[in-house]
Amino acid sequence: MKIGIFDSGYGGLTILEKIVEKLPQYDYIYLGDNARTPYGSRSFEVVYAYTLQCVKKLFELDCQIIIIACNTASAKALRTIQQADLPNIAPNRRVLGIIRPTAEKIDYFTKTKTVGIFGTSGTIQSKSYEMEIAKLFEQITVVSEDCPMWVPIVENNEHLKNGADYFVKQHIDNILAKNKNIDAIILGCTHYPLLLEKIRKYLPENIKIITQGNLVADSLADYLLRHSEHEKLCTKNSTIQFYTTESVEKFESSASIFLNKNIEAKRVMLN
Ligand code: DGL
Repeated sequence: MKIGIFDSGYGGLTILEKIVEKLPQYDYIYLGDNARTPYGSRSFEVVYAYTLQCVKKLFELDCQIIIIACNTASAKALRTIQQADLPNIAPNRRVLGIIRPTAEKIDYFTKTKTVGIFGTSGTIQSKSYEMEIAKLFEQITVVSEDCPMWVPIVENNEHLKNGADYFVKQHIDNILAKNKNIDAIILGCTHYPLLLEKIRKYLPENIKIITQGNLVADSLADYLLRHSEHEKLCTKNSTIQFYTTESVEKFESSASIFLNKNIEAKRVMLN
């Protein structure tokens, strides 16, 4: 059995990379729903339906544990899948998200107890970060900003170009105008680490940038330690297979830029 990593597109590769660095022994399957990305602007119903199809596909491909490495899908679909679907389709397997592992660590990064969150419209409107953080650390104020252009910039491989600066600076200015006490900002979309260089350029130095890859990798490592019934079913041949719902050529060339190495992908059709 493998560990599945799912994202609407390429963003989850930033999570996969850190998971494989931390836990290189396991076998992984990455699935990007590139044909239907972005999810960020879509309704709850649509994100749920798309995510469920991808989860079922990863189960068909023999995944024991699936990480929804997409904040939008974690915000809009995870809970329903865990509570309503999993007991029927795969009661002995697990689907985990990435918002909770991020929220659990947030207190460590902030002295002013005021954190910012950049995310897609879907993630921000769902208020999932506010809710998760409030459950764990009620003294922390969360200031959110949705950045609808950032995913398209990354998906179109424009993130290192000059044109991206305008959109990066615009949202940094917006969030800082909302609250002057922010001392840490979560990049609450798995595509955003690709914009890290530009975000750092416009963000005051004293504000920490929190990316999710290492947090999710640590949380998965901990989960596997605590759940030997799942861990023992995961094979350990250090393989990674890539699947996309779009054309293989397109995925291979963009994913190779994300991961900085050549990869081979296969196409899947969803039903
Ligand atoms: N990477 C996804 C996330 O973390 C969003 C990309 C999209 O809008 O599809 O939220």
